[in-house]
Amino acid sequence: MATLGVNIDHVATLRQARRTVEPDPVWAAALAELGGADAITVHLREDRRHIQDRDLEVLRQTVQVKLNLEGAIAPEMVAIACRVKPDQVTLVPERREEITTEGGLDVVTHRAATAAAIRRLHDAGIAVSLFIDPSPPQIECSAELGVEAVELHTGTYANATADGDRAASLLDLARGGALARSAGLTLNAGHGLTYRNVTPIARIDGMHELNIGHSIVARAVLVGFTQAVREMRAIISPAQP
Ligand code: PXP
Repeated sequence: MATLGVNIDHVATLRQARRTVEPDPVWAAALAELGGADAITVHLREDRRHIQDRDLEVLRQTVQVKLNLEGAIAPEMVAIACRVKPDQVTLVPERREEITTEGGLDVVTHRAATAAAIRRLHDAGIAVSLFIDPSPPQIECSAELGVEAVELHTGTYANATADGDRAASLLDLARGGALARSAGLTLNAGHGLTYRNVTPIARIDGMHELNIGHSIVARAVLVGFTQAVREMRAIISPAQP
């Protein structure tokens, strides 16, 4: 059965929209744990658009389940990871202008830089996962690089609008998953997964961890909205004695 890593980046996105202190992703991590999250995932981006260095430091102190840090292969990010020591680092591609992580890390093209980052993380005792597209060359190269896990990018599957395209991407993910497992890699997946599209991905043989962020945060805003309005209404005009 698959486990759930809850990505709390977008709680921080909401906070950063006002550069204030709420909502605090540290609180969200605690609530996610209470809800049954098996891991907490954060992406410390080079432009610090959502998660801040302080968040990562505090989360390292407070998260009781697995802490998974997503980061670029850039030496600055690797140095932060080696100091903070999350349980796992997932290496991801990063371009400042993108809205979110578009496409997997091309470990074939960036093999030398990826290998250097992996070496430093392993020396610090941190397990490494590579966020890659589900293509055989990327998976084979990941296995050669000696990482513990791969996270297959589910964006093409999630974005497919035609049934045939969705089925084809699901087959790519299932075949990629089988290849990864036969190479001894732990199989994770994520990106664009929602309450509606997650089931076939969770059912892929040997699926270990699904990292899901936007859909959970989006739902949390709406599921909690009525209660939040009710509480403010009660403060503004409390029931008269
Ligand atoms: N996994 C990785 C490696 C990611 O970069 C992201 C997005 O930050 C996710 C999973 C979660 O994607 P989403 O927010 O679409 O659920």
